[in-house]
Amino acid sequence: MKLEDLIGKRMGISAASARALMLEDRVTVDDVVVRDHHLPVSRFHRISCNGEVLQPGCERIYLMLHKPGGILSATSDAHHRTVIDLIDLPEKADLHLAGRLDRSSTGLVLLTNDGNWSEALTLPGRKVAKTYLVETDRPIPGEAVSRFREGFHFETEGITTLPAELELLTTTRAKVILYEGRYHQIKRMFHRIDGIRLISLHREAIGTIRLPNDLNPGDWRPLSPEEIASVSSADST
Ligand code: URA
Repeated sequence: MKLEDLIGKRMGISAASARALMLEDRVTVDDVVVRDHHLPVSRFHRISCNGEVLQPGCERIYLMLHKPGGILSATSDAHHRTVIDLIDLPEKADLHLAGRLDRSSTGLVLLTNDGNWSEALTLPGRKVAKTYLVETDRPIPGEAVSRFREGFHFETEGITTLPAELELLTTTRAKVILYEGRYHQIKRMFHRIDGIRLISLHREAIGTIRLPNDLNPGDWRPLSPEEIASVSSADST
């Protein structure tokens, strides 16, 4: 919403009257005098006029969580525990996930109340790298590396997966880097290679945000300012 519209709505005045107030330096956004009536503002901005608070501005929240197996990547569910159940914050009902993991998968999950920030991570066009460690039920053939790079056609969605990186660590352990996030994507890609099934799937990193070794399964912590800023174009309006 534009600043002039928010002021107009909150004060019950026209946009022209709101602009006049701004030109008299009476309006502040996050405690800074603002004259730009087109400035996009959101519920996160603290907005005042004549010293009276029109909108207090809510706090932006960014968390990482180490998802244990068996927990749903969802905000609510009638039958299963969700990642939100693991968080003890009063504002947790306002959080959403920036990318999901399957129920059996473990590892890094990011949660926020900032929709622009999560979109910068999850919109397909952004091609943010997601790094996983997998263990398979049988040896991974060397040709899997080129198959992952070439992509797999998924009939159901009518798409071909983007080039993905596969690095063999042992005969049955590998690192996978995806630049998208399709339904059961890694499981389905491996299954195309001799019917390989995954014994475990663990997400280590999203972009440059890595799950630290000292964050135990089920635990969470706020992201650091550097981690938040690492997500490009987090304009958070
Ligand atoms: N690919 C999968 O198959 N499952 C996940 O949880 C993530 C990626």
